[in-house]
Amino acid sequence: MTYPSAVGPGAIDARRARLIEDARIGLCARVKSIPSAWFYDDRGSGLFDEITRLAEYYPTRTERAILECKAEDIVEVSGADTLVELGSGTSEKTRVLLDAMAAANVLERVILFDIAEDVLRKAACDLHSLYHVEVEAVVGDLRADLDSLGGDGNRLWAFLGSTIGNFTREERGRMLDRFARAMSDGDSLLIGVDLVKDTARLIAAYDDSGGVTAEFNLNILNVLNKEMGGDFDLSKFSHQASWNESESRIEMRLRSLDAQVVSLPEVGLEVSLEGGEEILTEISTKFTADGFSDELRDAGFDVAERWFDDAGDFAVLLARHRGERLGNGSTLPAVLPVAVR
Ligand code: AVJ
Repeated sequence: MTYPSAVGPGAIDARRARLIEDARIGLCARVKSIPSAWFYDDRGSGLFDEITRLAEYYPTRTERAILECKAEDIVEVSGADTLVELGSGTSEKTRVLLDAMAAANVLERVILFDIAEDVLRKAACDLHSLYHVEVEAVVGDLRADLDSLGGDGNRLWAFLGSTIGNFTREERGRMLDRFARAMSDGDSLLIGVDLVKDTARLIAAYDDSGGVTAEFNLNILNVLNKEMGGDFDLSKFSHQASWNESESRIEMRLRSLDAQVVSLPEVGLEVSLEGGEEILTEISTKFTADGFSDELRDAGFDVAERWFDDAGDFAVLLARHRGERLGNGSTLPAVLPVAVR
């Protein structure tokens, strides 16, 4: 197993710098927000793991069922010998793919990429001892660090769990474009998306009766307290989950129960909140399979296959890049023209 330079003090500083920048921008804005990437400290990762086992939270088990059923097809269609998992977390679902690759005798290497370092280290060790293949672990932020990913075979890039839904349409376009730039010709992208369904079921999935999602949401304030010496009092906020019909997404917020001032001394911030004022902490977009296929095509990918569960709750798509890379809405030729003397 190799720990590239991305895992080290430099990476930690970069992470903290990004968090500080996000807090400054998000908490000073007229409508306050904190990027959902910051949920995932150790405790947040553990709480998310708990969420995936809740009766109300169907996406994880539904996606796993699709993968279990279709892993062989996925491995065959992709022709991959390397699995790159983006936002791997505990890598439980990855094992379904790795088992299929191992069974087909094609598995050579695994690359894990996640924002949560400790969870990542453990997952990398576990996978190494299970599959006896080279495992590379890279700590990073999906919004920035993809270029540091290695591997040179036919890579299957797995971006599962509908994490893509945590980004706006514009951000998704940029993210798919970054994937495309980091991918080589033989690579393919496996992406899981949660689908639009009955609103009550959607809301229940983000506001469970046991309050685990509430705890997960509130924990983002612990992260700010820990990383910037903040004094957020979690008992002065409540968890909110609502459906935004026009944007087709669940939105999670933290509502300030009273007027209060919170200080984050290590970044020199004093944040005033009115009673009832909300901080947006997560969007979770719900797609139609056709709508998301269009997004992939707009980003230069061809959709090779789409798989669904019987109830049509979730979709897994396999896509390949057409070769033209997009940037800022403009299409670049596959081979850049160079001056010839
Ligand atoms: C794994 C990020 C896609 O949006 O459903 C679960 C995170 N948030 N419950 C999602 C989450 C609240 C989850 N993602």
